[in-house]
Amino acid sequence: MKKRCYITTPIYYPSGNAHLGHTYCTTMCDIFARYKRNMGVETYFLTGTDEHGLKIQKNAEKAGITPQEYVDKIANDFQNLWKTLKITNDDFIRTTQERHIKVVQEVFSEFLKNDDIYLGSYEGWYCVPCESFWTETQVGENHVCPDCGRPVNKASEETYFFRCNKYLDVVLDDFKKDKFVYPISRKNEMMNNFIKPGLNDLCVSRTSFTWGINIKENPKHVIYVWLDALLNYISALGYKSSDDSLFQKFWNNDDVEIIHVVGADISRFHTIYWPMFLKALNLRQPDRIFVHGLLMTKDGKMSKSKGNVISPMPLIERYGLDAVRYYMVREIIFGQDGQFTADQFIERINADLVNNYGNLVNRVLSMINKYFKGIIPNYKKRVNEKDIKLDSLIDETIKEYITLMDDLKLTEAVSKVMDLLSSANKYIEESTPWALAKDESKKEELEIVMNNLARSIFVSTMLLKPVLIDSNEKVFNFLGINNVKFSDVYDKEFLNNNKLNPTEILYQRLDLNTELEYIKEHIKSV
Ligand code: MSP
Repeated sequence: MKKRCYITTPIYYPSGNAHLGHTYCTTMCDIFARYKRNMGVETYFLTGTDEHGLKIQKNAEKAGITPQEYVDKIANDFQNLWKTLKITNDDFIRTTQERHIKVVQEVFSEFLKNDDIYLGSYEGWYCVPCESFWTETQVGENHVCPDCGRPVNKASEETYFFRCNKYLDVVLDDFKKDKFVYPISRKNEMMNNFIKPGLNDLCVSRTSFTWGINIKENPKHVIYVWLDALLNYISALGYKSSDDSLFQKFWNNDDVEIIHVVGADISRFHTIYWPMFLKALNLRQPDRIFVHGLLMTKDGKMSKSKGNVISPMPLIERYGLDAVRYYMVREIIFGQDGQFTADQFIERINADLVNNYGNLVNRVLSMINKYFKGIIPNYKKRVNEKDIKLDSLIDETIKEYITLMDDLKLTEAVSKVMDLLSSANKYIEESTPWALAKDESKKEELEIVMNNLARSIFVSTMLLKPVLIDSNEKVFNFLGINNVKFSDVYDKEFLNNNKLNPTEILYQRLDLNTELEYIKEHIKSV
């Protein structure tokens, strides 16, 4: 495991309010960042907003305000939402900030000077919402954008180009690395759809609108929004600034694992062009581009134009952060598309948090109160097969969880913890502590069972800490734990003699019909 980790979300377009899709991506990165910090890895977590481009300019015109006023309001809303959701980002970069603009202009000048960029003219099919030019083959007979499916227009303009073929090798090299693009299907998609047919040089400037970063050498051009946006990952770290210590620590360094998490809709820019820009700047490559799937509703991909966007707030307000975070990481396999449905949401919370986890906590703690006056019995060597089995399952779960989490298999890692909790619930039935309690000669056996169960709860709570951010402190407190660090999961005697604190119900059972009504009333598209 590397000493440091740099994890980024895409920077979101402030062209509308943040929805559950943005929340999903930010939350997954937050879970990962919290996990890494738990493991003692020095972690820097970045998110932000991508504020230039024609779409923003048009939205602002429609609203009768300046583009800057328009983005200020929405970027502020994004930041407030992340605060409400207790997202632990270390910085929030906005592409209209001076610190970013300066870097973009300097990089552009450097590219020009090195002949990585040249002035030419472009004729092609342009998709306004995606701000992308496409070739005849890409738009097909129907002349629609291959990314979003909307109609494209013929357009021509004098424009600067980035020499892609000069840097194709770096992309091919990256693609040879096992984990660079994940899931693998995304890599194949990039290869077959974009690289094999041959890459055209990329247009990196526009003259048809003004809301962007000007090219110093030729101010009638603004810099293409994707070149501008991708550079956020290094401008935020102080690249090319007088204090570039963060950049030295979290980028220009082999000790850091650099991970970009992006939605499937923007993998092309991150897996092909971003590596080329970095190479042209003589900078190291990221370690991983993790492509997550998209959240859909029954009407397909969430989008403002379809009117099916889900706001996270009605869910958070009623069910709390833990429930929404848990649902997202467990129900939507990280790396695959997923559909939000109200019944699955409620059922998932009831099955996993209420029945499996919450119930185990209640049962076990009340038995420790009843049979041992609230003192957790000391760890003793397990002799019975079922006791040894649960004890080893705890150890295996920790190991597997770490491997899966490090590999960004967040859903699988959390499922493993749920499996441990289910096994602990079953173990209660097998061990029948209520029968052992009646027989004085079985006291030691009962102590082992209770210690085993308390350890299952403790370890699971620690493993779920990056996800269940509100309840973990409560459970540690129930268990009489004051100070805790991840490595305590390896200490079998950690809970010895702990005095339990008063407990309360962790998660209230949700009534399916009442909650379906609530969700349908507050989220129209479900
Ligand atoms: N501004 C660009 C990204 C530049 S990164 C250098 C952009 N912004 S976006 O707001 O349209 O989308 C950014 C990301 O938000 C997506 O890549 C994805 O991670 C997330 N999502 C947006 N809609 C989503 C869903 N419906 N479902 C899941 N994630 C979604 O593209």
